[in-house]
Amino acid sequence: MTPSDAPPIGAVPPRGPRPRVFSGMQPTSDLHLGNYLGALRQWVAGQHERDNVFCVVDLHALTIPEAIDPAHLRARSRSVAAMYLASGLDPEASTVFVQSHVPEHTECAWLLNCVTPLGWLQRMTQFKAKTDGRESIGTGLLDYPVLQAADILLYDTDEVPVGEDQVQHIELTRDIAVRFHHLFGEVFVLPKAVVPKSGARIMGLDEPTVKMSKSIADERPGHAVRLLDPPDAIRKAIMSAVTDSERETRFEQASPGVRNLLTIWQVLDGRPMAELEAEVDGKGYGALKKAVVAVVVDALAPIQARYAELQADPAELDALLARGAERARGTAAATLARVKAAVGVGA
Ligand code: TRP
Repeated sequence: MTPSDAPPIGAVPPRGPRPRVFSGMQPTSDLHLGNYLGALRQWVAGQHERDNVFCVVDLHALTIPEAIDPAHLRARSRSVAAMYLASGLDPEASTVFVQSHVPEHTECAWLLNCVTPLGWLQRMTQFKAKTDGRESIGTGLLDYPVLQAADILLYDTDEVPVGEDQVQHIELTRDIAVRFHHLFGEVFVLPKAVVPKSGARIMGLDEPTVKMSKSIADERPGHAVRLLDPPDAIRKAIMSAVTDSERETRFEQASPGVRNLLTIWQVLDGRPMAELEAEVDGKGYGALKKAVVAVVVDALAPIQARYAELQADPAELDALLARGAERARGTAAATLARVKAAVGVGA
C-alpha cells in the first residue's frame, strides 16, 4: 500500500463551546474531606460551564497489587462512583463512569506505550517515590502514567483538574501526544493541568504539614475526616486536630494546624476569612474547632443521605454507571479509531 492509499486519518472532531474536563480518583480507600474540598466540590462547582468526564480509575489501583483487595475492589469502585454522584455531580451534565468498563483505555495505553521512551517513565517523581524501598516493582507501576495519558487523551480533554502532585503526569501526557503526532500525525487534543487555588489543599488533621492522604488515613484514625464518618467521628477527629499552645486565629499569623482548620471552615462556610477570624478571636481553639465541626457535619449530611439512597438501590447505580460508560465509550471509541488508523492497525 502506498501512502496515498492509506485510509485518511480522521481529524480531531469539531469542539463544542465548553472546554472538556477529565479527572479521576483511584478507588484505593474511602474518600476523605481533602478529596471533597480539593477535587469533588470543585468538579461539581464547574460542571455546568464545562463538559465533564469523571472516572473512577480502578485499573490504576491494580498497580500496587499488594494494596488491593480483589474481594472489595469492585464494591469500592461503585462506592467511589456513588460518592461522585452524592457529592452533586449531575449524571446528565457530567459523564461518570468506571475506567475498566471502557476497554478503550487499556487498548489506547498499549498504542501509547509504543511511542513512550522508557527514560520518561523512569524519571517520574511518583514512580520513584512509590518504588523507593520496594523489592518487587510491577511493570504496571512504571506504566501508570501512560494509562493516565490514555484516560486523558481519549476524551479530547482540554483541562485536567488535579493536585500539584499530578502535574508532572499531565506534562508527560502532552509529551507523549506530541511525540505521537511527530511519528504518526495529529490525532490528539493537547490537555493542560489545572491546579485549584491554594484554599483547596487540605492537610492532615494530626500532621498539618502533609497533605491529607488516603493511605495515611488507613493507618492513623485522627488523620482525616472520611466522607462517610458519622457526626461523632467527625467531632472526634476535628476536636483532636493538632494546633499549638497559642490563641492565634488570624490566618496569616496562625500555625499550620490552625490555618488548615480556618481553611476548611472558610471553604465550607463561604464568608470572608476576616469575618470568621473575628468570630473566634480571643476565644481559643475550642471555639474554632466547634465551628469547623458544625460546618463539616452540615456539609456532609446531605452527601451521606444521597449516598445511602444510591447504596440502597443498586439497580439505579448500575444503570447510571452503565449509561456513563456508554457515553464515555462514544468519545473514547472515536478517538481510538483515529489512533489506530494513524498507526495502521485494526480492521
Ligand atoms: N493519578 C491520579 C491520582 O492519583 C489518578 C488519575 C488516573 C487521573 N487517571 C487520571 C487524574 C486522569 C486525572 C486524569 O490522583
